[in-house]
Amino acid sequence: MATLCRSVALAVLLTLVSAVDRGNFKSCQQSSFCRRHRAVKPGESPYALLTDTVTVNDAGLVGDVINENNRIVFTLEIYPLKDSTVRIKINEKNPIKPRFEDPYALVKDIHGESFEVVDQSAQGVTVKFGSHRAVVNAKPLKIDIYNGDDLVVSTNARGLLKFEHYRNKPGNEEQPAEGEGEPNALPAEDQEEDKDGLWEESFKGHTDSKPLGPASVGMDISFVNSKHVYGIPEHADSFSLRETTSTDPYRLYNLDVFEYEVDNPMALYGSVPVMLSQTARHTTAVFWHNSAETWIDIKKLPDSNVVSSITGFFSSGETDPPQVSTHWFSESGIIDVFVMLGPKPMDVFRQYAGLTGTQNLPPLFSLGYHQCRWNYNDEEDVRQVHENFDKHDLPLDVMWLDIEHTDGKRYFTWDHYKFPNPLEMTANLTARGRKLVTIIDVHFKRDSNYFFYKEVHDRDLFVHTKDGNEFDGWCWPGSSSYIDMTNPDAREHYSDTYRLDRYKGSTLDTFTWNDMNEPSVFNGPEITMPKDNLHPGIGVEHREVHNAYGMLFHESTYEGQLKRSDRRLRPFILTRAFYAGTQRSAAVWTGDNTAEWSHLRISQPMLLSLSVTGITHVGADVGGFFGNPDINLLARWYQAAAFQPFYRAHAHLDTKRREPWLFDTETLRIVRKSLRQRYQHLPLWYSLFYENELTAPSQRAKREPPCSAPRFYVTSPPSEPPNFLNDEMIISTLSPQIPVFQRGGAIIPRKDRVRRASTLMREDPYTLVIALDSDGKAQGTLYIDDEHTFDYRQGKFLYLAFSYEAGVLTSKKIDPNGSYDTASWLERVIVIGLPKQATKVSVNSATVGTRDLESTFESGSATQGSQLTIRKPGVSMQEDFTITIR
Ligand code: NOJ
Repeated sequence: MATLCRSVALAVLLTLVSAVDRGNFKSCQQSSFCRRHRAVKPGESPYALLTDTVTVNDAGLVGDVINENNRIVFTLEIYPLKDSTVRIKINEKNPIKPRFEDPYALVKDIHGESFEVVDQSAQGVTVKFGSHRAVVNAKPLKIDIYNGDDLVVSTNARGLLKFEHYRNKPGNEEQPAEGEGEPNALPAEDQEEDKDGLWEESFKGHTDSKPLGPASVGMDISFVNSKHVYGIPEHADSFSLRETTSTDPYRLYNLDVFEYEVDNPMALYGSVPVMLSQTARHTTAVFWHNSAETWIDIKKLPDSNVVSSITGFFSSGETDPPQVSTHWFSESGIIDVFVMLGPKPMDVFRQYAGLTGTQNLPPLFSLGYHQCRWNYNDEEDVRQVHENFDKHDLPLDVMWLDIEHTDGKRYFTWDHYKFPNPLEMTANLTARGRKLVTIIDVHFKRDSNYFFYKEVHDRDLFVHTKDGNEFDGWCWPGSSSYIDMTNPDAREHYSDTYRLDRYKGSTLDTFTWNDMNEPSVFNGPEITMPKDNLHPGIGVEHREVHNAYGMLFHESTYEGQLKRSDRRLRPFILTRAFYAGTQRSAAVWTGDNTAEWSHLRISQPMLLSLSVTGITHVGADVGGFFGNPDINLLARWYQAAAFQPFYRAHAHLDTKRREPWLFDTETLRIVRKSLRQRYQHLPLWYSLFYENELTAPSQRAKREPPCSAPRFYVTSPPSEPPNFLNDEMIISTLSPQIPVFQRGGAIIPRKDRVRRASTLMREDPYTLVIALDSDGKAQGTLYIDDEHTFDYRQGKFLYLAFSYEAGVLTSKKIDPNGSYDTASWLERVIVIGLPKQATKVSVNSATVGTRDLESTFESGSATQGSQLTIRKPGVSMQEDFTITIR
């Protein structure tokens, strides 16, 4: 019994040791603006539109909104935008100081849509754009957005709008200059509310001086007729977001959360304030455009425990439709909301890409397999590891070097003892078709003998404290300064440092990992930068730009990699912190996960949440960063991640070495098989990423799935095929094969001659796997280019459409403007789901003419389908062809 008790105690202790220290991070109760917004009572909104102030200009509609409790006036702007999108802004009309508007997320060219005001009265205004309407109810202020006749989004329907205007600190009132706002003692409403933390706030010994006082903004946004909402990464939580009625709200505040827990709404490393709702008729999304700390409450209505009249949606007394009511509040900035009306998921992805950009087509090698560890110790270690990949027949594209490769964590330098010859080491990798990634963190060691620190210090380009001194924070190198990325001079200085003559020992095959860029400050409040630090570059407090800071850093890295190759080669950057727009320049991984089954499980919803909010080049550390995975977990992780976009194994400094050959032969075999499957499917991944870059224009419509009922085929069966398949089974059974399903109606391009690195497969032949739908049809695409330069943007590419119908496979260029010389040819075609053996198969193209082909046929089962394999059609991928099966 005593032994049992001891083991239980030990187990509890171990659990505690490996869990996040929640005490390091604020709960809503410990954040004064979170408390104030959560305390707003529904149904009592004091905000009203003054309809006689409404004016219409070319871009949209502008009017005054008054808070009837304190008579503060705000400006409401509504802008219909191209592609079924509408922007709603609310700002102070006469602030005592301009309020910050995030300049970083949006792309430059956002186009307005024509519109007409179809109704204007004392009750409100209606604006029509395309088949959509924005209906503004004046009192209380409420803005309903209709897609056709369907109400899809309603803002301030619950009356939770709260906009804290700037005011002078009580006792410090100054007379306003002419034209400026009124000096404000606390207005009546504020006298009653929780006053703790309005002008100063402390947490764990850190005091936020809040010189501008309370400045938060918040509003409720309801998705009507909806039951599920998605998005707002990053949280280690389910894909369909949960109600927060009995938890803290979901928090968006970029933080370095050590040993994060799964299934909770705590903030993690990045923030994308975008939420999507999916109903049978509409996919709709909202982008809450604000780079300050933000929290989001979610409530599903109707709630049998709550009287439905609180929603105030319908005055007719009808039963309220189901809806997800969300409540967003940010510490500062303005209210700036984009509503994207879909109506299909692909439409919403395109509409959001129209606002913040698309994921740039990455170089192909970055879709291969990456081997990382904190740390590969020295050049000899690096050599042995990548040679072992060859020895064990494991494909690998990239070796990674973590912080220990530098001279005392001085980024852009090398440890001279362990890495004396980086150029030779890199040449060794590139000779095998491989690349190198080195880490560059956002903090710089305060050492005047360190070239980068000295240069940036001398130009005064670091972040300042509230008193105007260079900020000194603690991170890996010890005492560190943080570059002020809001300053264009700082961005230029930093990005220039990637030039090969400045970053000595790097080459055009050295790529970058930007870590700790939330930013992580070990001795800062919540392990990050004090909010009252100053960014001299644009003259704002850190609180305003916190969630965008990491993105500014990786965007400058992107610019640096462009510059060093005269803008010829595609960059590759991995970032930990992210924000809306990150997809334009970086891939993202989910930070410091743990070698536990729960972390493998949560990786999938985390990556999906990122993907639906535009960041699609995403992955999680394979094997788990902390701890030591057993062989089952490691093998399963390799298998699952082979089908996730970014595929990198990584491990903490204190973990046991876990390169695949260090395990038993069966585990090694499973890992090898997973890696090979990944490499076989690289043409599919690459084509999808190309199409992802095209998301902004409507070409994406070509990829709409067929309308017939989907059929799925197991294209890679488990050794013992199940009759059923569920998550539990997939995860708990150690099988050497991954059960991969291919949708009936899809044509998937593969390269089956797997080599040691993807760059060595460039001119290899293709296999097409055609899975027929119930009408005997299928479609697919393939994108081909040189895989690493920007020449494709000058027309050097092939973008092909495959279609199979009535026994004929056709390949044609989708974009006739593209052309690319490739030696790749068609090696094999596999057709799954034909009712019987073909009697004759022939190929036809301009150069081959018409030629009969050999084929073999295997009859199938319900899940696996029959399989016709056509050998060596032999046509070049460059030319149009048909293959006829009779
Ligand atoms: C934190 C990162 O999340 C981790 O991946 C890395 O290994 C360490 N920093 C050391 O650089």
